Amino acid sequence: MKVINVVGARPNFMKMAPIIEAMDARRDHFRHVLVHTGQHYDERMSRAFFDDLGMPKPDIDLEIGSGSHAEQTGKIMIEFERVCRQEAPDLVVVVGDVNSTLACTVTAKKLGIRVAHVEAGLRSRDMSMPEEINRLCTDVLCDYLFTTDALASENLRNEGIAEGRIHFVGNVMIDTLMKHRALAERRELIGSWGLRPGEYATLTLHRPSNVDDPQVFRGILDALAEIARDLPIVFPIHPRTRKMAQEFGFAGYFSDGSPVRNIWLTEPLGYLDFLHLNMNARLVLTDSGGLQEETTVLGVPCITLRHNTERPITCMQGTNQLAGNQPSEILDAAKRVLRGDWQGGRIPEKWDGRAAERIVEALAALP
Ligand code: UD1
Repeated sequence: MKVINVVGARPNFMKMAPIIEAMDARRDHFRHVLVHTGQHYDERMSRAFFDDLGMPKPDIDLEIGSGSHAEQTGKIMIEFERVCRQEAPDLVVVVGDVNSTLACTVTAKKLGIRVAHVEAGLRSRDMSMPEEINRLCTDVLCDYLFTTDALASENLRNEGIAEGRIHFVGNVMIDTLMKHRALAERRELIGSWGLRPGEYATLTLHRPSNVDDPQVFRGILDALAEIARDLPIVFPIHPRTRKMAQEFGFAGYFSDGSPVRNIWLTEPLGYLDFLHLNMNARLVLTDSGGLQEETTVLGVPCITLRHNTERPITCMQGTNQLAGNQPSEILDAAKRVLRGDWQGGRIPEKWDGRAAERIVEALAALP
């Protein structure tokens, strides 16, 4: 079976790495080509992850870069169509919910190529999120839908998707976490800043709903500055967040090199350093999707700065709680963590490091 595996943006790389490894273990059955759309292109948003995860270099890089949603999606479709015609794969594998996921799915399906979606069925029910539109459109088109939990499988059934297309396999991102955990433990990043395990918080922030509106963004920063009076906050900043902060004149909150108001700003970190940071944090504040799952497995309290989540299992079984993006809600959640008033958690079913193997077994059994 000839497969094109697609990656595009940072959260794709750690999902695809174990799938490539599992396909390599079945060389008798799979020949695969890795296509990078180039949606993310900075060294720290892309290449650093290939190095940390030991992933092969992409065979083909479409070098699409940034743009409006339509521009980015359209450019990927044009270039990916050319690649599909040239490579003539039997199957395309896409992961996650970024623009590259949707663009490559639509393109392949229109050429009559089968497509598998890894991390299918997640729903936030929030149509103002570009990712929710990508998830819905991708799932309706894909032939094989690999889900991380039973709730995601149920979402697909409720949308009328036939049982035969749905495969509950577990979480490939957790495969990667488990494989790299010991290595990440040995990093020395936090010590080099004079911080100690359990005595700081980690923050990530990049959703348009949090950083595109100056009032909302400022409110979040004020709440963070308040939390940081008790607990230093380490903030690896996403390029779009840095761009918005500069545009809104929030320089007073940010300074590279030395902390401002106990907030330690860094460039985006590689996979191992970031895992090291999170596994040792007292708590994590985030609007990311994947980090809600990683903190659940690490057993670290996660305060999600959103009103909804496409990953409700992390709230039901894990250490995640939704706090929204109002300063009082964020402060209240942080205080509860600090006084020990937070739920513990357990690891969801099949988040056991073997999801990619299950996916590859299922694909190998296809007619
Ligand atoms: C994308 C995904 C989002 C994911 C996030 C993780 C979509 C719709 N969004 O959002 O689901 O959570 O990645 O990072 O696919 N930029 C750089 N360097 C880069 C990449 C981006 O400077 O390597 C800057 C550019 O100014 C760009 C902006 O970030 O305009 C936004 O990048 P884009 O890829 O459009 O979306 P993200 O916000 O990163």
